[in-house]
Amino acid sequence: MIRVLTLNNIAGVGLAQLPADRYEIGNDVSDPHVLLLRSANIHGREIPASLCAVGRAGAGVNNIPVADYTARATPVFNTPGANANAVKELVVAALIISCRQICHAWDFARRLEGTDEEINKAVEAGKKDFAGIELPGRTLAVIGLGAIGRLVANAAAGLGMRVVGFDPALTVEGAWQLAPAIVRATSLQEACTGADFVSVHVPLVAATRGLISWDTLAMLRPGGVVLNFAREGIVDEAAVLAALDAGTLRAYVSDFPNNLTKSHPKCVTLPHLGASTAEAEDNCAVLVVAEIRDFLENGNVRNAVNFPEVVLPRRTAHRIAITHDNVPKMLGSISDAFGQAGLNIGELVNNSRGSLAYTLAELDTPPQDGLVATLKSIPGVTRVARYS
Ligand SMILES: NC(=O)c1ccc[n+]([C@@H]2O[C@H](COP(=O)([O-])OP(=O)(O)OC[C@H]3O[C@@H](n4cnc5c(N)ncnc54)[C@H](O)[C@@H]3O)[C@@H](O)[C@H]2O)c1
Repeated sequence: MIRVLTLNNIAGVGLAQLPADRYEIGNDVSDPHVLLLRSANIHGREIPASLCAVGRAGAGVNNIPVADYTARATPVFNTPGANANAVKELVVAALIISCRQICHAWDFARRLEGTDEEINKAVEAGKKDFAGIELPGRTLAVIGLGAIGRLVANAAAGLGMRVVGFDPALTVEGAWQLAPAIVRATSLQEACTGADFVSVHVPLVAATRGLISWDTLAMLRPGGVVLNFAREGIVDEAAVLAALDAGTLRAYVSDFPNNLTKSHPKCVTLPHLGASTAEAEDNCAVLVVAEIRDFLENGNVRNAVNFPEVVLPRRTAHRIAITHDNVPKMLGSISDAFGQAGLNIGELVNNSRGSLAYTLAELDTPPQDGLVATLKSIPGVTRVARYS
């Protein structure tokens, strides 16, 4: 039995993918082979000797001391893109909220008092204050064309907007997923110059802190709108508020309220709702469980934040996975061990990430019992797993 310790509630649709005859799942399982979690903070938590893998149902891994798990040759899997549609839908809502003053208008309507006749009168007199603008023909700059940015760009193009995207590390696969109408900018400046809206979809790292700055805001058209559903810190909010107060910016919609923004009349802030949908939680659980199963049952590594991507289609019943230091002569030593055991390697994949490398070998015949021990004795080999 493979023992899976859940540290948060993981959507049942995901856990159901672990067959009960092979997996024991629970929040009090001892000596676990797998940790499954969402936001549980496991910094400082002892790493059990039995552990083979960590699965995070979500994208960010700030709650996991990844380096400690890497040092123990334990992959940490996450679920990039599984919540992208949820965030995209909220960004589309934010675009419309910002154009039609929906929050203020709703607030106005909720405060109406009197008879229905009096309310009707107040509605007709008051609605001019909430007149809006429409999206078609206006330009949206999408900064970051990853899983979320691409969906936002495509959705906005579908709403008739002119979309300019900027991502210096856009993958070929990512580019293929963009609607043909989307214009690619070669710099943040090019994307934002003349845009009516800018929406950020980049990770918060040193290089993206304050990315939307005073200078960036000055590139937008008068009456521009800034949307932040990425992370607090990516937008320089002091600059945004100054531009809102000066009237050069129309609105700021953010998923990260704070004392600067939460009560400002031109800001709409939401309580970090981007990925909060039942579907996103289900998608994350299903994906992380699929990744964990493929690793435990086939040795394949997909979407690990600390291991290289290694996927080998299963052709025979016998394979061996070796985690080792990324240093010269390792592959030679590993091949020698197979050769001395008289084993033919049907197919072998090796890939590395930083100082860690991972080799997956598919064998034509079953390995003898001693092979794992021989491989483990090679200096620099940190873990050997046999799949038969
Ligand atoms: N509001 C929420 O609840 C919520 C939910 C999920 C993700 N997020 C945030 O959204 C961000 C994006 O998520 P994703 O799934 O699309 O991630 P992703 O990794 O698929 O995409 C991020 C993209 O940003 C690009 N990028 C990095 N630095 C850049 C820069 N300086 N300029 C332009 N592009 C740059 C990268 O090349 C990458 O393509 C996450 O990092 C996370 O912070 C928020």
